[in-house]
Amino acid sequence: MAVENRDPAVHLDRGFWLVTALLAVLSALAVYATIMWHPENMPQLPEAAIPADQVDQLFKFLTASAAVIFIYVVGYLVYFAIAFRVRASDPPDAVGVQIHDHHQLELWWTIIPTVFTIVLAIFSVKIWAGVQFASPNNGLVVEAIGHQWFDDFRYPGVHGIVTDEMHLPLGVPVTLHVTSSDVIHSFWLPSMRIKADMIPGMINTLRFTPTRAGTYPIICTEFCGTLHGTMNKQVVVIEPQANFDKWLAGWKGKNKNASDAIPVAGTGTVNLTGGDAAAGQKIFAQKCSACHAVGPFSQKIVGPGLKGVLHDPAHPKLVNGEAANPEDAAKILQKGYDGDMGHMPNASQNGISDKDIANLVAYLNSLK
Ligand code: CUA
Repeated sequence: MAVENRDPAVHLDRGFWLVTALLAVLSALAVYATIMWHPENMPQLPEAAIPADQVDQLFKFLTASAAVIFIYVVGYLVYFAIAFRVRASDPPDAVGVQIHDHHQLELWWTIIPTVFTIVLAIFSVKIWAGVQFASPNNGLVVEAIGHQWFDDFRYPGVHGIVTDEMHLPLGVPVTLHVTSSDVIHSFWLPSMRIKADMIPGMINTLRFTPTRAGTYPIICTEFCGTLHGTMNKQVVVIEPQANFDKWLAGWKGKNKNASDAIPVAGTGTVNLTGGDAAAGQKIFAQKCSACHAVGPFSQKIVGPGLKGVLHDPAHPKLVNGEAANPEDAAKILQKGYDGDMGHMPNASQNGISDKDIANLVAYLNSLK
């Protein structure tokens, strides 16, 4: 059967133009509501840095555009479904108007999205370029290193690792390099409207300038293991500069003998004499129980159950294939483990000392 190819304009009657006008009014209201909406007034979302303001503008532009597109698409969908429904008088095999090769329509539905996408690209690339490539401007360079499940920082002139919250002076441009020592994390400063993935073996750089003194959250936004949800820190924006300098000088003094190497794995042999099982049980509750049950080997949380780990005839070897004796258990606690059973952070990542390891081994040895 030959397909009709009538001019669709014929079918756009008064109802269509009425609906179009109604959708225009709704769109204008949505745009107005977006302009009047100030996310930065929410207590959790102050604009605490350049480029937070630009990011908010971009977000509002996107929200308004999406609202208009949504209103027109859904509005017309509903209108057409009603206006061009099958009528009782239509023959049972009725087919709607088939429109193709309508050059004017095709022209507009190509031009409008293209122009919109280009405007959006210019808007966002401008902000992104500022965050990525702004000149360092004699600012402060800070490094953030993600671990399961905390962030460490490195500051110029400070040896080793700063385990405090991240401190920044007000109004000074910051170049922030982020990376990870284990898995992929994501470093998010919601009040600065800044975020970058922390990827092992790769450095991502963000540039921003704190514009508001105060304390704001740092949140890990990439699922990175069981304690991902607890991987939060804070950024403290300090004024005046002298107070920041005092904080930095404090860390210079505190860390003056610290090693600049990023702690990756313990070295040397842990002295196990004098290990205290009761103290070990306390550390186990704080540091180990999120991943290990005190139950049979097969009772896996993240790692295996550890009941009788050094006395279990069914599992005479540790997960790394070594004999199940206190010295080899200490080695796993010290150096961590990577293998078939999964990943266990090493002692410095877990924040446990040699003394803690001795106590933990004594505790594990007491589980029979
Ligand atoms: Cu680190 Cu999620």
